[in-house]
Amino acid sequence: MVKLDRTPQKIDKLRKQLLKWYVHNQRDLPWRRSHDSYAIWVSEIMLQQTRVAVVVERYQAFMGRFPTLVSLALAPEEDVLAMWSGLGYYRRARMLHKAAQFVADQHQGNLPATAAELRLLPGIGAYTAAAIASIANEEHVAVVDGNVERVLCRMAGWEADGATGGAALRRRIEELATQLVDPRRPGDFNQAIMELGATVCLPRNPQCLVCPWTADCKTRGEHKTQPRAQMLSREVGHALSLRMGQQPGESNREVLLEQRPAMLSVMPGLWELPGLREPDVPAEELRMNVRHAIMQVNYYVRIRTVFEDDVDALTVAGGERRWVPLGAAGGMALTGLTRKVLTRAHLFPAVSLDTIAPQPDVDVL
Ligand code: ADE
Repeated sequence: MVKLDRTPQKIDKLRKQLLKWYVHNQRDLPWRRSHDSYAIWVSEIMLQQTRVAVVVERYQAFMGRFPTLVSLALAPEEDVLAMWSGLGYYRRARMLHKAAQFVADQHQGNLPATAAELRLLPGIGAYTAAAIASIANEEHVAVVDGNVERVLCRMAGWEADGATGGAALRRRIEELATQLVDPRRPGDFNQAIMELGATVCLPRNPQCLVCPWTADCKTRGEHKTQPRAQMLSREVGHALSLRMGQQPGESNREVLLEQRPAMLSVMPGLWELPGLREPDVPAEELRMNVRHAIMQVNYYVRIRTVFEDDVDALTVAGGERRWVPLGAAGGMALTGLTRKVLTRAHLFPAVSLDTIAPQPDVDVL
């Protein structure tokens, strides 16, 4: 196969083509109106595992509540987790909060400017450091996320196979990304290539006809990727227990939630439906079946309706339990599965977060 032309003239042309496309085709996203490194940081962390439409909604509320790094650092963790509600993957919120406290403590509340210094902060990896430094401070560094990897592999005609699927391929991608990033507009260039991957150079059914780089692309379509890891299956059961609250009325129902103990390594502190002792649920008691993927595991979850008086007999006590009004449950730090179940059971009020921000199907620990 003919190799991608990487002469300075070609690189310059590719930069110009991409940036021109970006000017005309970029999505209007709230964090793109800011060069504040804290705002960029928050957006990049939110975008890591959550769909853009969900992030747009939650980002504005989060920034309204925590407009500055110091306001985030000073907030109780519980408030930060509650404002993260709907985004899932709460570990990101905890890490962001801890890092904000570190910066408030050790850097007078100012995020360092360079990628190398940002990288030293707890919870900021190479990707996030490069994104903040280039977008907020125009540092000439490349950002390589999954979208960028795909765009560059296709451009260069690189396919994953046993020999070149891992670290070696990753190094070649980073080298090409570094060569391409435009020193005059590194922030826009990095956002443009991520945007191209997110909207045109899609994993399946890429839109090559509207791609600014199609003339030079060595793939023009889908490329061979590493086979996905096999998913494991597990069966579990949870109790959906409801009762009337103190005041009468349909909107006053309460649901029983349990907090996962703080010492757990998986989703500590999040609220969930109590676990059933026995995942085999009699047909007449079965409220719903839900599939929920976490990392490489497909959980097949049976949800059983449990009367208040039967809770102790049918469930395994884990952490603190609380009867929570349904109107308040949506704003709590729920596990993705719990949010999914309450949404599917139509138990959140019409204006709950979930009607605005549907959950991603896959959770990360
Ligand atoms: N994905 C993550 N961050 C992004 C950004 N700043 N622009 C486009 N896509 C992104």
